[in-house]
Amino acid sequence: MKLLFENASQVITCAGPARARRGAEFQSLGILADAAVVIEGARIVAVGAREALTAAHPDADVVDCGGRILMPGLVDSHTHGIFGKARFEEQELRAAGLGYMEIARRGGGIHSSVRDLRARSEDDLFALALPRLARLAAHGTTTIEVKSGYGLSVDDELKSLRVIRRLQQALSLRLVPTFLGAHEIPLEYRAAPRTREEYIALVVDEMLPRVAAEGLAEFADIFCEPGVYTPDEARLILTAARRHGLQIKLHADELETSGAAELAVELRATSADHLAAISDGGIKALAGADTVATLLPGTMFFLGRARQAPARALIEAGAAVALASDFNPGTSPTVNFPLILTLAVSQLHMSVSEAVLAATVNGAAALGLAAETGQLAAGYSADLALFDVADVRELPYWYGDQRCHASWVRGVPAHRAG
Ligand code: NIG
Ligand code: FE
Repeated sequence: MKLLFENASQVITCAGPARARRGAEFQSLGILADAAVVIEGARIVAVGAREALTAAHPDADVVDCGGRILMPGLVDSHTHGIFGKARFEEQELRAAGLGYMEIARRGGGIHSSVRDLRARSEDDLFALALPRLARLAAHGTTTIEVKSGYGLSVDDELKSLRVIRRLQQALSLRLVPTFLGAHEIPLEYRAAPRTREEYIALVVDEMLPRVAAEGLAEFADIFCEPGVYTPDEARLILTAARRHGLQIKLHADELETSGAAELAVELRATSADHLAAISDGGIKALAGADTVATLLPGTMFFLGRARQAPARALIEAGAAVALASDFNPGTSPTVNFPLILTLAVSQLHMSVSEAVLAATVNGAAALGLAAETGQLAAGYSADLALFDVADVRELPYWYGDQRCHASWVRGVPAHRAG
């Protein structure tokens, strides 16, 4: 089936090379007026002047964009979408002065989600995740990276990844599964008779081979942070993941500096994520590397931390900056990606053009998908979002609102308002 999208106030193409934007490239959003987009089946076949495309494709069904903006669907390259219960009780603990790591030391935080997830069946987790991902889609997200990481045992990690596989079949969204067995050291490996070394061996010798053999993940990730995994442990686990054919990502320099950004570059990771506590050396390393610097301003906002990632310094140094939601029950329970754009502009001092490219082209690059999604250009997947605003600058402006009118993934409707 062929569709011709017309009557958009702006077509935001984000078009350019099939790789992450950096430096001056961040200024070219590719805003077209009086333009049309033609898709056929799962692919975009043409983007250009409305009159010419209407004449060239008389056989296409017309989609009236109603004066809204048409743009690439948002690419959320970092979520922890598989979890059980919410953790709203921690929000008040933090308000009362308890830190994120202190809550974890008391057995809350990730540990609390792990206890909860282990007690749930695969069906139960599937039933919880399905409407949550649909809410992400309702805000214009069309590609979602989804991590495991609240299982922390062979069975519970595999269970989480199988839920992602079922979600891929059930939803018209592009889901990218990531194995995060190294999200924490589970409590039962912190005291005799078991040791953290034994848990790391379990991840390397049992989890990774099973995940790879069953083809359950495309990426492996780790929480490399003082008090969680050290850079040396991260190097060991991620090197093993790479041997099993997985691409790699790191939660790097999220709360405290540990040199994790430099490690991401050393390991040629696809992305280094968070970076609120990145060092000058880390900024320099990322500036000269292909590794995408993925910033998650919703997390620092929700945790009430004053220090956001140094987006300006990263961009000015030449790093490939992406934005993502970090959707998870502990530090960023938002499904609203346009709200992340608001935070990017108001807190990270990014321009609208930088923020939108970071949420599309560069998000795709952070998933190794820069040639597949994140742009409106011929040959790309037909992943589009229609937002109920007339100017792209309104997208971060009406903050917290839900402006996504409709979206398509591989040419198939993914969301429709009302
Ligand atoms: O990205 N930092 C580690 N992982 C998540 C938080 C997980 C949780 O608290 O449940 C993050 O912030
Ligand atoms: Fe995260």
